[in-house]
Amino acid sequence: MKKSYAVELEHIWTYFGEQLIHQDISFRLENGEILGLVGASGSGKTTLLREIIGLETPSRGSLKVLGEPIQEACATECRERRNHTGVLFQNGALFSALNIFDNIAFPLREVDIDDEELISQMVYMKLAMVGLNARDATLKPSELSGGMVKRAALARALILEPELLLLDEPTSGLDPLASEAFVTLLRQLHQELDFTVVMITHDLDILRDLCLKVGVLADHRLVAFDTLDKVLACDHPFVQEFFHNNRAQRIFSSLEAGHG
Ligand SMILES: Nc1ncnc2c1ncn2[C@@H]1O[C@H](COP(=O)(O)OP(=O)(O)O)[C@@H](O)[C@H]1O
Ligand SMILES: [Mg+2]
Repeated sequence: MKKSYAVELEHIWTYFGEQLIHQDISFRLENGEILGLVGASGSGKTTLLREIIGLETPSRGSLKVLGEPIQEACATECRERRNHTGVLFQNGALFSALNIFDNIAFPLREVDIDDEELISQMVYMKLAMVGLNARDATLKPSELSGGMVKRAALARALILEPELLLLDEPTSGLDPLASEAFVTLLRQLHQELDFTVVMITHDLDILRDLCLKVGVLADHRLVAFDTLDKVLACDHPFVQEFFHNNRAQRIFSSLEAGHG
């Protein structure tokens, strides 16, 4: 039987008008893996996530998610697949007019679940999973700390129990403690629920501690895609600059010593 991957990109090219974004990007991610995607601002990371979820269509190439090809004009099918994919976008993580409960319940109501008791059960279960309590559920996003908003957004992303979780810079804007707590939470949930993760991040600790694979976007290409220790050995200038400055050196020293 042919092996199926959680995410499979083959020769993806993306243009916005004349502007080249992605040039011949291919990779495969196995079920249950966590991919950390890095690249300069504007290198096309978010666009790649949007293509994986079917919100954007590559100009060329093919893309399979959870074993199914993503095609143009597949409204119903795409919607169905989106239910197997949880997304935490970088900004606008939550609807500001809705309280936390209704934010987390939103995807359930969108798939026409209308049993309020069931909705309530599912929401409170997910709230507990991400370390929020019942009182938090009554608050608006603006009444929560940044870390709590991210947790609530994660609860919403997980409410339909997705097989694939897409995260766009989930710890950006968090202080180091909140960021570390978020990473611990993500690790726990990943162990429990066993989903696949594609995460855009610049957080060196996350790349070291959480990501089984690291992908680097630079010069429109995927210049590295491998385990972190292999990526560290890549001599592309962006990789050198990003992973071999003083701060990165400190964070990765144990790893490089271990594999040197
Ligand atoms: N819908 C769009 N239409 C036109 N240009 C876009 C669109 N989305 C993104 N871009 C452009 O594509 C490039 C890559 O954007 P993005 O994927 O957001 O990069 P990153 O997430 O790596 O910072 C940027 O130059 C951005 O302005
Ligand atoms: Mg982005």
